[in-house]
Amino acid sequence: MSEPQPVEYDYRVEQIEGSLPAGLAGTLYRNGPGRWEDHTGRPLHHLFDGDGMVSAFTLAAGQVHYRNRYVRTRHFRGKSGTRHLGTAATGGWLANVGRIPPNLANTNIVEHAGHLYALWEGGPPHEIDPVTLETRGVRRFGGRLRWMGSYSAHPSFCPRSGEMFNFGVEFIPRPHLRIYRTDVRGRLEHFRSARLPYLAMVHDFALTQRYLVFLVSPIIPDAMPIALGLTPLGDAMHYRPERGSVFILVPRDGGPIRRVECDAVLQFHLSNAYDDRGDVVVDAITYADGRLLGRIARFHTSSLSDAPSEFSRFRISAAGRVSREQLSDTPCEFPRHHGGYQGMAHRYAYVSSRRRLGSFYDSIAKLDLIDRSEASYTAEAAGNSFCEPVFTPRPDATAEDDGWLLTVEYQAAEHTSRLVIIDARDVGAGPVATAALKHHLPQGFHGSFSPGRAD
Ligand SMILES: [Fe+2]
Repeated sequence: MSEPQPVEYDYRVEQIEGSLPAGLAGTLYRNGPGRWEDHTGRPLHHLFDGDGMVSAFTLAAGQVHYRNRYVRTRHFRGKSGTRHLGTAATGGWLANVGRIPPNLANTNIVEHAGHLYALWEGGPPHEIDPVTLETRGVRRFGGRLRWMGSYSAHPSFCPRSGEMFNFGVEFIPRPHLRIYRTDVRGRLEHFRSARLPYLAMVHDFALTQRYLVFLVSPIIPDAMPIALGLTPLGDAMHYRPERGSVFILVPRDGGPIRRVECDAVLQFHLSNAYDDRGDVVVDAITYADGRLLGRIARFHTSSLSDAPSEFSRFRISAAGRVSREQLSDTPCEFPRHHGGYQGMAHRYAYVSSRRRLGSFYDSIAKLDLIDRSEASYTAEAAGNSFCEPVFTPRPDATAEDDGWLLTVEYQAAEHTSRLVIIDARDVGAGPVATAALKHHLPQGFHGSFSPGRAD
């Protein structure tokens, strides 16, 4: 599942089971680390330290075409430093002091205003050719993405305006969120900045019709050992629940920023959020404690499966009170929903989840957030696992769940991967079609579906 894949492929997938849905045409793009070594062959230990490898599954005319390419970052080309999140550069502290990890472009891939971007939260996007997957270069949007150029891997799209919102964590002169808005023509502008209570890892945010919603978890680096080059960054990140959390609500209309403090919450991914009269409702995948951080830092030798998560809902009242409710105790990650319902009261969330104890994400689940029920499909063979389920609606659909979930299943016994397509109305029925690759893919992080790309 996390074996590297050094080969770049380009072929028509022969082994298709079931029938590809007639209305499903376009490309599923996926991104994730493909190899965990630097250009000298030195192994890297942190899950996040692998070079970004982009995959494209193109569905057109009843066929599936597969292609993958590494993003040609400076790191991939052997032209950047080798101090990584989880692995120090060789040469002791002198070789590490003042160095920041290289941009690996390995976390997400999204399309906006006709451009396809491979994203990594500590630096600017790499633009990717949507057909060939060749790397077109680093994009700073005409120089408007300044400073470190931090640009999170989780932009959010307004379904009404077509704008893409995103942010970067910057720490000079003080820790803050630098927030960007990109219009439908692809023009990026600095929208707002918001001070952070402490230097923290902020990975994701949510968008309502009124607010950008940030939930700051106290994942705090030990600044001194990092600055002195004594500790790899990944080993110096700690969960500090005594510091508490804060919701930062940034009004889209330019009004004053609201900050609402609450008990510490450990999360990486928010799901949807929406305004409910004066309240703001936001869903998140939350963890009970900080064990996950250590597991990720040493993923080759430790299991990710003993850091249980749950699906939680937070309500922030107009008076500044936060209430919390567990919507599902099924361990899960990688929440997705219908993009047309972004920022609106919605009914369904889709997640990778875990049914078998001790397994990785062996299931795809559909959570009904109104009935509080869930339906899931579990891989038939033990050891198999699914990545994030990407939802795409059926053309002309009116029901929220009328569409498909696209995910990639790693099949352990065969050591191969396959594209899995599930009808979102009936997740329990399992795949309506699968397309088996001739090889495996490392499971990767995030992706998106671009409809209608038939070439
Ligand atoms: Fe993420």
